[in-house]
Amino acid sequence: MSEAKRLAGEKAIEYVEDGMIVGVGTGSTVAYFIDALARIKDRIKGTVSSSDQSTERLRAHGIEVLDLNATGPLSLYVDGADECDPRKCLIKGGGAALTREKIIAEASDRFVCIIDPAKRVEVLGKFPLPVEVIPMARSLVARELLAMTGGQPVWRQTTEGQGVVTDNGNLILDIHNLSITDPTAMEQAINQIPGVVSVGLFARRRADVVIVGGEPPTVF
Ligand code: 5RP
Repeated sequence: MSEAKRLAGEKAIEYVEDGMIVGVGTGSTVAYFIDALARIKDRIKGTVSSSDQSTERLRAHGIEVLDLNATGPLSLYVDGADECDPRKCLIKGGGAALTREKIIAEASDRFVCIIDPAKRVEVLGKFPLPVEVIPMARSLVARELLAMTGGQPVWRQTTEGQGVVTDNGNLILDIHNLSITDPTAMEQAINQIPGVVSVGLFARRRADVVIVGGEPPTVF
């Protein structure tokens, strides 16, 4: 599947224009995009990064990483996804970077999503839906998510059995066993729970363009 990710990441370079500041997502597909971006780094003004992981990779390539507060709105955001439905609604956050990803997506005129074919689904929800929560609200939010969605919220752990801590110092609950027929309504409802920082449903601000890696890549 990494070949499909590479093909998607490299195709996204076609959306980068000279002088742009490019919003950069997080994950293994985005890593291919960053590597391709490095080859044309002299043609762009810089990037805004959605995670410490991406910032590290960008800087290792000598690509400038800027503060979103200083750049203002962006023309382009490129990011991966964990699931994508036919209306370009997404589940994101498998890499725990959903909040900064959502902020950059919102700040960008065009969101180009890069995926491998396995990410395409008819209905979102097989991939557990990530929710970033303030630590003291973890149990409260888990109870409310259970009652609201009928899915099973699970506190995400590292391989060493510690709670995963996001770049923002928060925790992740993954909601299992969902079938999300109205992603916009679910996104809105989960956002209302006190203690929720953000939910990894990208429906209100969904992708504008989806590139599915393959030989050749398909775009919809
Ligand atoms: C990180 C994300 C990623 O875009 C998503 O998890 C896909 O990752 P990958 O490209 O490694 O499959 O949302 O928070």
